[in-house]
Order: sequence, then C-alpha cells, then structure tokens
Amino acid sequence: MITALRLTGSAAALLAAACLSTLGAGSGNADAQAPAPGAAESSPAGVDNPQRAWQHWTLNCQGCHRPDGTGSAGTTPSLAGTVGRFLSVPGGREYLGRVPGVATSALSNADLSEVMNWMLWRFDKDHLPANFQPFTAAELGQLRVAPLRLEASQMRADLLKKADESAPP
Ligand code: HEC
Repeated sequence: MITALRLTGSAAALLAAACLSTLGAGSGNADAQAPAPGAAESSPAGVDNPQRAWQHWTLNCQGCHRPDGTGSAGTTPSLAGTVGRFLSVPGGREYLGRVPGVATSALSNADLSEVMNWMLWRFDKDHLPANFQPFTAAELGQLRVAPLRLEASQMRADLLKKADESAPP
C-alpha cells in the first residue's frame, strides 16, 4: 500500500513535469532537451548533487521560471543575470528565502537550500559576492516560516533599486 501511494506520488510529479514542459514547448523553448545543467561540472558551493538540484528545479520551479531562469514577461521576473544581485544589499538574502515560490515550496529545507545554491550559481554566478556563504537548510527553515505575500513585489523593487545605486547592473 505504501509502495502504491509512492508510485502515485511520483506519477503525479511526472505528469506535472510533462504539463510544464508542454507549456515551455509552446513558447518555442529550445532548452527543453538540453542535458542537465551542471551534470558534468564540479559542484558549486552548497550543492551536494547538481543533478538532483536540477531535477528539483525542473519539478518545482521551472514551470514559472522557465528552464533557463528567464521567467515570463508580466508574471515571473527573470532570475538569469539578476538573482545574485539581491545578495549584495541588506535584506536581499532574506527576501530570497521568503519569496512565496521559495518559502511555500513543497521541498524539504535541505533540498530547497541545494536548489537555491544551484540556482544562484547556474543563473547568475557573475553576481555572487566574493564572500558568498551558501544557503543552509537551517537558514531556509527559519526564513520560510514567514513567507512574503503581496508585499513581495514592492520589496523586490526596493531591493533592486538599492542594488542599482550601489553597483551597476
Ligand atoms: C507559481 C509560480 C512560481 C513558482 C512555482 C516559483 N516561483 Fe520563484 N518567483 C515567482 C514570482 C512571480 C517571483 C517574483 C516575486 C513575487 O512577486 O513573488 C519569484 C521570485 C523568485 C525569487 C526572487 C528573485 C526575484 O527576482 O524576485 C527566487 C530566488 C525564486 N523565485 C526562486 C524560486 C525557486 C527556487 C522555486 C522553486 C523551489 C520557485 N521560485 C518557484 C514565481 C514562482
């Protein structure tokens, strides 16, 4: 019975992934068939298993953020070339851990911290501060208990404005 339930769970996840990739294909996404990013490279800091991180990204995040992190105009901002900038302004790191898609994700704290570290490296390693400390499970466990709600977009705009003022994009 337990096995049957597990199978049902993974079947649902696969179905969700299939639906999401269909959405991506509709917008002419050429990345869908690309090999797992990071698979053949050394692991970035705070990522034990890049392949697993990529799979978690695929199932939990890319439906909104797209496989390449570029998002969707009007609904989901691009992480690509941007997300690391939040780490250089006060409050930015907390924002990343409390933004709704992160804080309310179904992933465990450990899996979520791995995805976050992988995502930062994969989509914006150029903006990672030299003293960047990877997210830990414990840190995300603390941040995600207070998910942002409607205030997320205003906070996002304020943080990026500060980042613009302190360094060019
Ligand atoms: C339902 C769509 C959706 C899902 C699923 C989702 N996100 Fe997001 N994400 C957003 C939107 C929209 C924003 C912009 C902030 C806001 O208004 O919530 C955002 C913002 C972010 C940010 C902050 C960076 C920025 O530019 O604002 C990070 C980091 C992030 N998401 C990572 C993730 C990760 C990692 C996952 C999977 C665990 C994920 N998201 C799942 C829609 C989503």
